[in-house]
Amino acid sequence: MGLKGFSLVTALIAVVAYVVYQVLFAPLPPPKFDTTKYWGPSSRANRVEKTEVKPFKVDYTADVIAKLRNRLSEPLHLVEPLENVNFRYGFDKYMLEKLINYWRDDYLTRWDERQKYLNGLPQFTTTIQGLKIHFIHTKNQTVKAKNVIPLLLIHGWPGSVREFYEIIPKLNKAKDDTAYIVVAPSLPGYGFSEGASVPGLNPTEMAVVLRNLMISLGYNKFLVQGGDWGSLIGSSLATLFPENVIGYHSNMCAAMSPASTFKAFIASFYPSLFVPAEHADFFFPMGEKFAYLIEESGYFHLQATKPDTIGTALAHNPVGLAAYILEKFSTWTDKNNRDAKDGGLDKSYAKDALFDNLMLYYLTNSITTSMRLYAEAFGKQHFGLQIERVPVQVPTGCARFKHDLAHEFDWQLNVKFPKLIHSTYHRSGGHFAAMELPDVLYNDFTQFVKKLNITQ
Ligand SMILES: *[C@@H]1O[C@H](CO)[C@@H](O)[C@H](O)[C@H]1NC(C)=O
Repeated sequence: MGLKGFSLVTALIAVVAYVVYQVLFAPLPPPKFDTTKYWGPSSRANRVEKTEVKPFKVDYTADVIAKLRNRLSEPLHLVEPLENVNFRYGFDKYMLEKLINYWRDDYLTRWDERQKYLNGLPQFTTTIQGLKIHFIHTKNQTVKAKNVIPLLLIHGWPGSVREFYEIIPKLNKAKDDTAYIVVAPSLPGYGFSEGASVPGLNPTEMAVVLRNLMISLGYNKFLVQGGDWGSLIGSSLATLFPENVIGYHSNMCAAMSPASTFKAFIASFYPSLFVPAEHADFFFPMGEKFAYLIEESGYFHLQATKPDTIGTALAHNPVGLAAYILEKFSTWTDKNNRDAKDGGLDKSYAKDALFDNLMLYYLTNSITTSMRLYAEAFGKQHFGLQIERVPVQVPTGCARFKHDLAHEFDWQLNVKFPKLIHSTYHRSGGHFAAMELPDVLYNDFTQFVKKLNITQ
């Protein structure tokens, strides 16, 4: 090939590379959103929205609890598991029977006490974009701190605001002259928050709803923290409304763009060049990590495609619901729990905390509406936004917990989070960090905030 031919080939490669880069990888500007979109039933669309904030208390009568106890007294007819499989085929029958007994004969007999505990944090409801939204709102009236900063805490699935009951009191106290005003909403369609009546309330639209909630409470500048869906919703919030977000911290940072996948592929050849050697096992071997995700993500595909069908199997079915939700708390806390006789739940959580969370799904019959979020997130409309290619322009902190479902290293993350100022590795802990290791998450979060150098 002559010089001419060579230049032609080079030019061609350059053009192709440029086009591929533009189509797949180049950062995009933030999409425009209708921040007033209405999500309620059309029958209510013309009514004037009451945006008042009303105090809220969890308040179920003895009758509701007695009915649930009766249901839990019926014969279970569970099927004998295969020998020695523990949790490999799903929730173990014998462990489930034990937990149902505990739920019926212990937990529910103390419902008054549990309800009092749940009401120990002040809660409210208000209407945002046509939906009744429930939220915890705490501020310490007597705290003496130079900085008192509003913080939006966002939970995920199959969690709830219950995940934050241990960390909220810590956040309300002063440390390093800083304390937080905490707002922890139930996501639309979760627990006491109403779900949408029309399709389309995806994680990015949820970010709009939660941002509007903060604004309506008078918080124009706030911090955001979240894991699971809370992580994605929080990162969308920081993407769309950088003017409102002081900093974004997550215990499950994810940059799911083609560029970050490509970087993972490149890094898999020379891991040591891209990740700290002592924590390489968070990311590699990649084949093993990928296989694990495939093994554990059947629920995801189901919920993203037919949430209402699986919802039918779980709605008002306390035993099925317990198995479905607690299985996630077992495996996502540590994948080795699949080989434990008891699913390892007691090692990491107080039983009452797990049942509080379950009760929030059961009492509100919200499992179906909660699972629809998967369908909305993986719908064409949401993919079309390509929100993962719009960089977050606010300071970001990422905490990794060893046993979480998946992790991304800094080089992957900084496509989405160019201002990644805090990146940590915790050798223990799993997906539900706030509930499992509240002190560790609290310390990680406050270290991140320290780096923001906020002065009020
Ligand atoms: C308020 O803050 C003070 C000082 O940090 C702390 O001692 C107290 O426990 C906090 N009260 C609440 C209700 O969080």
